[in-house]
Amino acid sequence: MVEKQQWQTPLTSRVEVRHPLGSYDVVVGRGLLPRSAYVSGMSSRTAVVTDSNVAELYVKNLNDIDLLVEIVTPAGEEHKTLETVREIYNQLLEVGLDRRGTILALGGGVVGDMAGFAAATYMRGIRFIQCPTSLLAMVDASVGGKTGVDLPQGKNLVGAFKQPESVIADLDTLRTLPIVELRSGMAEVVKSGLIASRGLLDSVTALARSIGSIPGDNTTSLPIDDLHPLIVEAIMIKRDIVESDPFERDERRLLNLGHTFGHAIELTSGYAIRHGEAVAIGLVAASRLSSVLGYCGSELSEQIEGVLTDLRLPTRIPEFLEIDQIMLAMKTDKKSDSGSVHFILIRDVGDVFVKDAVPLPAVKQVLENLKTE
Ligand SMILES: NC(=O)c1ccc[n+]([C@@H]2O[C@H](COP(=O)([O-])OP(=O)(O)OC[C@H]3O[C@@H](n4cnc5c(N)ncnc54)[C@H](O)[C@@H]3O)[C@@H](O)[C@H]2O)c1
Ligand SMILES: [Zn+2]
Repeated sequence: MVEKQQWQTPLTSRVEVRHPLGSYDVVVGRGLLPRSAYVSGMSSRTAVVTDSNVAELYVKNLNDIDLLVEIVTPAGEEHKTLETVREIYNQLLEVGLDRRGTILALGGGVVGDMAGFAAATYMRGIRFIQCPTSLLAMVDASVGGKTGVDLPQGKNLVGAFKQPESVIADLDTLRTLPIVELRSGMAEVVKSGLIASRGLLDSVTALARSIGSIPGDNTTSLPIDDLHPLIVEAIMIKRDIVESDPFERDERRLLNLGHTFGHAIELTSGYAIRHGEAVAIGLVAASRLSSVLGYCGSELSEQIEGVLTDLRLPTRIPEFLEIDQIMLAMKTDKKSDSGSVHFILIRDVGDVFVKDAVPLPAVKQVLENLKTE
């Protein structure tokens, strides 16, 4: 094992996350992938699980790990399935990875969720390292130990808690992330600000126009060093919540702000709408629902719409989605128990809460207004 502290530079941030079985570091900085074994203190034989977009770009950068096999899964949420996990198991068995081995997830949240689930279950659990390469995975999916796959009936219906040994977020990977994916990740940063930090929301608001105006489909002009502190703050917000509620019994549900609507929109669109885009629409819907139910004024949802619009994220239900189907999907989502849907509502920035048994006609009205306006 190498001494974990040695590599730290002023440009590298380290956030420690504690959990019931120990702790791990989320390391955020530039140029980290080539030093990932060193940074994580990992020395065992490693299977890299990645996807068909990220494989060609970054597997070659993992040059200090003991790479046993590179498992390339097809990119996209529609492949976050048990079938793909079975294919991962097959390849692990083919190369003879045993319980002393490590799975390293290199990619976005889809890869992280699936590789983590494989690591939780293969031979009853082996070591797991996350190298998130999308903004969404850096600020959200890679932190907190939730892993899993989708079923045709809904998202993330099968899964496990699996804590990583380390999370290594190399900000340089964001340079190749399609701008639509980057914006999608910004929706989660907006969410984090709404849950816990006006300062973070202000920082996102200040950067939103410049990110919204990045031309074309690449992020070469991305202000990575400006994004760095926002990413670290979003990670710290998630850290604080998952530490206080590692198994999602209570406070952690707050992280689902915008997600009851968002998951239903994502599912109903057949995943044509990205997770973060659906969350953006969901944040607007949740704030409007909060306003309709009398918990906040309409100016809060206008503020949220403003920053999302600057980021060029969607804030309305697209024409092709049926409201009744979204309602149905919401009732099927795992966050609903025995027919009554609960929502995360907002009184103000930094003041969100769980509301059970929200009247469904109010929910439907919010959705209908968001479609027709
Ligand atoms: N486990 C959790 O706590 C948690 C939290 C939030 C979201 N999630 C899950 O995360 C998933 C969404 O994650 P996502 O938005 O990262 O999606 P994703 O993994 O599909 O990645 C988005 C796209 O970007 C590509 N990509 C990723 N990094 C790249 C890079 N550096 N350069 C070029 N292309 C790159 C991917 O190949 C993919 O096409 C959903 O399945 C969601 O349920 C999980
Ligand atoms: Zn999310």
